[in-house]
Amino acid sequence: MVDIHTHILPAYDDGAADVYDTLEMLRIAADNGTRTIVATPHSNLPGKPARSCSEIKRIVSLLNQAAKKENINITVLSGMEIFATDDVAKKLKNGELLTVNDTKYPLIEFDFETDSFFVFRVLESVISEGYTPIIAHPERYRCIAENISLAYELYRMGAVIQINKGSVRGRFGNKAASAAATILNHRLAAVAASDAHNIFTKTSDLSEFAIFLDMNFGSGCSSLLLNENPQRIISGKDVHWQSPIPFR
Ligand SMILES: [Fe+2]
Repeated sequence: MVDIHTHILPAYDDGAADVYDTLEMLRIAADNGTRTIVATPHSNLPGKPARSCSEIKRIVSLLNQAAKKENINITVLSGMEIFATDDVAKKLKNGELLTVNDTKYPLIEFDFETDSFFVFRVLESVISEGYTPIIAHPERYRCIAENISLAYELYRMGAVIQINKGSVRGRFGNKAASAAATILNHRLAAVAASDAHNIFTKTSDLSEFAIFLDMNFGSGCSSLLLNENPQRIISGKDVHWQSPIPFR
């Protein structure tokens, strides 16, 4: 499997506390079938210092060396979870922000209380610069969870929807779980990810999640969302859609 959304960099954001935590997260991922993992530290947070793209890449390179030394069979790639602001498109173009593995795919998150006009405005500006935005866990944003038909509009505008393991499994409450299920039932999610932060609660283990997806959303669900499409994303190829169903 390929996990495109994780917080594994040591002591870098609210994810892995130190390098031991990082290596344990990598081991948990590898032992449960993840072969490639993208480090996506929180970035572009208002009021916080800017993240250095070259620094993230340097740490990722060190982690790959450390994983090899520890016999952990996994490849780490660079990325960011970019907090949405009006200047994201400009910053991407200027090379101030990282996309997933330097592809056309920036992973973008919004404030949970954001309004839908802002979501569409930011994504539109990013698309107009030639990127294909991946919207991180839209099921967790109130404006989308309460008006789920907007998920179809996100798909129509050309954004890629990424669902979180924790949302589907009910970790973020009934509203997010129900929104995630509706998005999955309408085949609007192109990719799913762990959004792993630690080794206990929000882990990098995707194995049980894969089984849950197949049992509840069709036998090919985990293969498409956890293998094929994330593999296409890290390679910069277009994702596959399985005839998304519009809302009545
Ligand atoms: Fe995240």
